[in-house]
Amino acid sequence: MHPLHGKVALITGGSSGIGRATALRLASFGARVAVAARTVAALEETVRAAETLGVEALAVPTDVTDVEQCRHAVETTVAHFGRLDVLVCSAGVSMRGLFVDAEPAALEQVMRINFFGTLYPTYFAIPHVKRSRGSLVAISSLTGKRGTPSYAIYSASKFAVRGLYESLRLELARDGVHVGVVSPGFVATPLRQRVLDGSGRPWPTPPPPPFPVWPIEKCVDRIVRLIVKRKPQALVARPFVIPFLALDEISGGRLGDWYLGGKFL
Ligand SMILES: NC(=O)c1ccc[n+]([C@@H]2O[C@H](COP(=O)([O-])OP(=O)(O)OC[C@H]3O[C@@H](n4cnc5c(N)ncnc54)[C@H](OP(=O)(O)O)[C@@H]3O)[C@@H](O)[C@H]2O)c1
Repeated sequence: MHPLHGKVALITGGSSGIGRATALRLASFGARVAVAARTVAALEETVRAAETLGVEALAVPTDVTDVEQCRHAVETTVAHFGRLDVLVCSAGVSMRGLFVDAEPAALEQVMRINFFGTLYPTYFAIPHVKRSRGSLVAISSLTGKRGTPSYAIYSASKFAVRGLYESLRLELARDGVHVGVVSPGFVATPLRQRVLDGSGRPWPTPPPPPFPVWPIEKCVDRIVRLIVKRKPQALVARPFVIPFLALDEISGGRLGDWYLGGKFL
């Protein structure tokens, strides 16, 4: 039997992309899943797809920028299933454009969704995952490991997520809670079409990604392995990226500046 069989997972961003695919993969292992996002019809579609895999599933409409809605999402999941073993924070938006051209309110909104939209559900999930000695998982990004031109606020929000989760990993270790961060490169999801410009509106024609795009199932493989093996972090990246990040650190950032400087806007 799969180790996630019978577990209960709450997945924010479960209406689309990585969150939806993770919910369905966990369901395929026999986990019961609750999915949280704003678009009710898409959540209900994820629930139906999970139910066809033979598990119980729940849609919890939630705007992750609202602290009370996040409390409600966690409490509703626990009230419905009686426990919470895994929280996956996948809700997020991307913004691409030069920082100086962006509007402050749009910058703040990215931080509210990506950072506080991870912090709030995590905060309310902690007592429950302590009880189950379960997992907290955040979807950061490779831009959360290395600053990248034209992704300044997105990168900042993902660094913040990683800082929060790395600290929690140490704070919660004595309680037996697993805390893991997944840092993907570009993944083939609807995020590509929804990427925001500096005004906070989706680009009419989004600029193409400057690096290869990973299949979504590869990303989900890494998320599942991180949960099952209780790993602290996982990258979804080509093998050279790990030594590249180490060498960039040693070079004081010069290597990354040279490599990334010409690749974006
Ligand atoms: N795709 C990539 O290349 C890539 C790379 C690195 C990291 N990531 C990260 O992976 C995560 C998932 O992205 P994805 O690629 O799966 O994108 P996606 O398909 O666009 O999914 C984003 C999800 O976030 C939800 N969401 C957005 N704003 C929300 C809000 N205020 N409240 C609740 N839910 C909200 C969306 O649902 P609603 O609109 O229905 O609310 C949707 O379910 C994000 O954190 C993203 O930053 C993605």
